[in-house]
Amino acid sequence: MTTVRLNSADPVSFDTDALIVGFRSGPEGPRPATGAESLDAAFDGKLATSLAAVGFTGKPGEIAKVPVFGAITAPLLVAVGLGESPDAEGLRRAAGAAVRSLAGTARAALALPAGSAQEVEAVALGALLGAYGYSRYRTNGERKEPVAELTVLSAAAGEHGHGERSAERATVLAESVALVRDLVNTPPSDLWPAKFAEIAERTGAEAGLTVEVLDEKQLKDGGYGGLIGVGQGSVNPPRLVRLSYTHPEAGKTLAFVGKGITFDSGGLSLKPSASMDWMKSDMGGAGAVFGALVGIARLGLPVNAVGYLCLAENLPSGTAQRPSDVLTSYSGKTVEVLDTDAEGRLVLMDGIARAAEDSPDLIVDVATLTGAQIVALGWRTAGVMANDDAIRELVVEVAGDAGEGAWGMPLPEELRKGLDSPIADLANLHPERWGGMLTAGIFLKEFVPDGVRWAHIDMAGPAFNKGEPHGYTPKGGTGAITRTLIGLAERHASI
Ligand code: BES
Ligand code: MN
Ligand code: ZN
Repeated sequence: MTTVRLNSADPVSFDTDALIVGFRSGPEGPRPATGAESLDAAFDGKLATSLAAVGFTGKPGEIAKVPVFGAITAPLLVAVGLGESPDAEGLRRAAGAAVRSLAGTARAALALPAGSAQEVEAVALGALLGAYGYSRYRTNGERKEPVAELTVLSAAAGEHGHGERSAERATVLAESVALVRDLVNTPPSDLWPAKFAEIAERTGAEAGLTVEVLDEKQLKDGGYGGLIGVGQGSVNPPRLVRLSYTHPEAGKTLAFVGKGITFDSGGLSLKPSASMDWMKSDMGGAGAVFGALVGIARLGLPVNAVGYLCLAENLPSGTAQRPSDVLTSYSGKTVEVLDTDAEGRLVLMDGIARAAEDSPDLIVDVATLTGAQIVALGWRTAGVMANDDAIRELVVEVAGDAGEGAWGMPLPEELRKGLDSPIADLANLHPERWGGMLTAGIFLKEFVPDGVRWAHIDMAGPAFNKGEPHGYTPKGGTGAITRTLIGLAERHASI
């Protein structure tokens, strides 16, 4: 596990294996950013011109590794572009990209603009998130260990104690995200519902959460028809995990509900192979809820929070649910299953109805729910829907602060009638595929009792990075929306 420390030492003489230095872009080429003054002097002010000569401009995400010829103590200098004027997310991404480029190096120090507590946290968080690696299944030489020891160099370090608190907060956030990334990256042969529940029990208890797990018998007896229906095709039966965190000074209670399909084959409405090979990531919503609860507990936020992990494996078999089966949800409403691949909404309908019994001030569900989200918003922007405009805007704003892409989407009333079923209260599939992200949201809204505020985050794209790494985001599981949920808890904290 990577650690981060703060130090007010001069970067020129700091003992480390690689020194990361920030450069801003501009019409006159790259310029050393705040924090890089003494380094610039150590290279007689020639660093920027030398970098420009090798084509480095200081644009966001640019990396240049530079030999130091003894001018500074560190044997390697890594220049990273910050763009014209980086905000907190710009710092996080630059720190992450630079640290990611140093996999295989033991120690790295960052001389980036980190004068304020907020900047220290951004640099530390980006660096820690960028240091993530997943090598559990690698036995060949391609395994490169992430940077183990990070130091954020900040002249302000030690002056006010809050620098240390920023590093601690960054560590909690990064470890929560790493927990989610690990779960998403784990192959489904090693992460089935009961296994996920076991991990949640152990790790949740360590973080101080109360954890309850309902097994398939309790789910059946309890009337959780959605979880049972989706899970019945697999030899690995479903689970519902409830994680709860309470604080004596809390004024508000938040409920998070996560879609936790440990593998989504589509069921009898089988997916084509090309859409299936990454469906181990279909538990990313439950992962984010789990990671957020662990983070909230570790931060000791003055808020109450409950998390529900709706865990099932969606497989075809002789016991699988059939298209045209009718399920009775935990709320009592009946649903005709027209497509067994629209399974996320079936497990979430139970989770949302159960969460409402906790009388929360807000329910937020998180799910890799629809391919239509990716069609509408692409890989990096989650869709946010809600039964309350202010809540939708709050979620989008909090996600923006965390640097997690999210955009508000409507729940148009006229799409509701397409979910009518000739024999049950609702169908799980809309006859038109247009607006598929919205019809899924409209389906879920039916299970939110009147008077309960609710938001739905569809992150089918953002949960898993099929492309190249960028900024602090690795390939594979991203841990998306975990920090947004923690941010929402912070917004609802007392004081
Ligand atoms: N897990 C998928 C959605 C998904 C697609 C997540 C791509 C991540 C990447 C979900 O269960 C699903 O299969 N949705 C269907 C719904 C349809 C049958 C109404 C879809 O989007 O095609
Ligand atoms: Mn599906
Ligand atoms: Zn799914």
